[in-house]
Amino acid sequence: MEEKEKIISEIKKLRREIERHNYLYYVLSQPEISDAEYDALFYRLKELESKYPEFDDENSPTHRVGAEPAKEFPTVEHTTPLLSLDKATTYEEFLEFHNRVLKFVGANDLFQSVEYTATPKLDGLSIRLRYENGALMLGATRGDGFHGEDITQNIRTIRNLPHYLLDEAENLSIIEFRGEVVIHKNDFQRLNDELEANGEKKFVSARNAAAGSLRQLDPKITAKRPLRAYIYEILYCEGKDFKNHWEQLAFIRDVGLPVVPEAALCPSPEEVKRYFERAEKNRENLPFETDGVVIKVNDIALQEKMGLVSHHPRWAIAWKFSAEEVITTLIDVQWNVTRNGFVTPVAIMEPVFVAGATISRATLHNEDQIAKLGIKIGDKIVIRRAGDVIPEVIRPLPELRTGNERDIIFPKNCPVCGAPLFKLEDDIYRRCPNKSCPAVIAETIKHFVSRKAFDIEGIGDKQVETLLGAGLIRDAADLFLLKPEQLIPLERWGKKLAEKVVANIKARKKIPLDRFIYALGIPGVGSHLAEVLAHNFRSIDALKNASFDELVNINEIGPATAESIIKFFRDEHNERLLKKMKKLGIEIESPAEEATEQKPLAGKTFVFTGTLSSMSRSEAEKLVKKLGGKASSSVSKKTDFVVVGENPGSKYQKAIQLGIKILSEEEFFKFIEQFSNYNAR
Ligand code: IVH
Repeated sequence: MEEKEKIISEIKKLRREIERHNYLYYVLSQPEISDAEYDALFYRLKELESKYPEFDDENSPTHRVGAEPAKEFPTVEHTTPLLSLDKATTYEEFLEFHNRVLKFVGANDLFQSVEYTATPKLDGLSIRLRYENGALMLGATRGDGFHGEDITQNIRTIRNLPHYLLDEAENLSIIEFRGEVVIHKNDFQRLNDELEANGEKKFVSARNAAAGSLRQLDPKITAKRPLRAYIYEILYCEGKDFKNHWEQLAFIRDVGLPVVPEAALCPSPEEVKRYFERAEKNRENLPFETDGVVIKVNDIALQEKMGLVSHHPRWAIAWKFSAEEVITTLIDVQWNVTRNGFVTPVAIMEPVFVAGATISRATLHNEDQIAKLGIKIGDKIVIRRAGDVIPEVIRPLPELRTGNERDIIFPKNCPVCGAPLFKLEDDIYRRCPNKSCPAVIAETIKHFVSRKAFDIEGIGDKQVETLLGAGLIRDAADLFLLKPEQLIPLERWGKKLAEKVVANIKARKKIPLDRFIYALGIPGVGSHLAEVLAHNFRSIDALKNASFDELVNINEIGPATAESIIKFFRDEHNERLLKKMKKLGIEIESPAEEATEQKPLAGKTFVFTGTLSSMSRSEAEKLVKKLGGKASSSVSKKTDFVVVGENPGSKYQKAIQLGIKILSEEEFFKFIEQFSNYNAR
């Protein structure tokens, strides 16, 4: 053997061996060698890799300490959508699900009971993993289910995830998994203690800590966080079929992945109930946070027969543990002013531990809700929190009153600027009319710098308040005028940090149109609609000049949003801000024309009419777009296909008149199915 080949072969053997020991240690908790022996293998590999950098590999176990920081996470399209789950909260609701399943079981099989798998529902972050020929090639967040973020470098730092699958999977060209990234409860405690000792901000829950750690741009920080992954689904596997989900779970374990623990086969709904009850009782004893149980039809053929509805499969359900309720005292009600000037009530409570976190604030929704609950300051109140949901006040306990309780007074004037509040007929909130209200300005700028908007690292809510307080900014555009010398005198800003933040701001002068639209904070326009608008108008000027008709003609824009957009751009204040930003050299990039030519539906226009039974119209349209086609809302000679659901409208008539090819829902999905392996990434 040639010298070089020998070295490659040794490197490869070392990597496999180290991965195997990682697996024995982290997944099976059955180490075969001592720490010292493990270290020896590791150092030998490191030595070879630094001596022969040409043989280095991102998947080498030596890379678990984290690669170089990224500027941003590229978006990836999911080849198989990462769907959500339907929910049940009681046994009755689970039985409704079971009855739906029975409808799909053939008459001949009715005497055979349906078998389910049950696993804990982990309260973490959903991820997708792709292994090619056994090697980890992609790790992504779930995102909106269709697109996520490429966080491969961060995923590679997770100790219990192998960079290479065990031999069983070596000749599988492509296999994709779905799982959850979590932080164990004891690790979470330790992490928070450490953060506190270093004077850093603690995380409010293990889930937030996992999410925050996984979305770090610097993988070296991620590498230091005690993340773990558990895998519960095979999303796609080329060249291998499975009969049932139980087999899939076994396969996940056999290829060396940490499979979701505590899985069970339940041959009847009663067994599922017993599993659920045990799981709810045993919740405290598990090392990770759980918020329910996931139940799936075991038989894959039956799963396929059942298929999907809008955003979730028909063959699985999440049966959630009941939300935790606790009693505390309402100390005060604060009135918050949102960036749209809405004045909303927030309950300030005696701190109380509920569903894994200490809570001292909760939403009181709105005035009507307060009146309906008949709640008073000083009341003992019941609050509820489920998983990551915002805690809410459920009801007061008037029987525990002492007589010292006070009524909640709704403010007549803005709690921040003092302007008299107003309320339109259909409004549920009072509103501050003052565009220059410090709260409105602060909230607008906080939104502007937030993650989905300009995403300015180093400028968060606190910094915005500081900058406003110091009179250094008066609107979002002023951020671009900041100089390091202005920041240095502020508390906690050293020279280095000041320079870095100013550089971060400058780096954001070039911004994609959809982010820019989102950053403007137009009422009713969230990140998704911002993307839709960017795609349709392609420049801020075109959007600014859009007519009501043009706006409502876009599928997802309703009349209220259209009005809101028009009103926004007519507002003098906003007009001035836009001009100012232009003058400051903010460069807005229009979305790239998608390279659609090679995609299977390139050049084809689809129109949908009527209700589809297996997914929403906008999801079907997404599918068409993903495959390179166009989805339009009106039929014309340029339309290639009209897909007709139930109760079709006039578009159907028009399609007949124009002689356009008409597809039933079934025909459409058959047609689309031939591209199901199409890799749109
Ligand atoms: S199965 C097609 N199993 O729950 C559905 N999901 O509410 C595939 N989750 O976003 C999901 N633990 O992130 C499944 N054992 C488990 C799970 C689990 C947690 C999450 C998952 C999903 C959410 C749905």
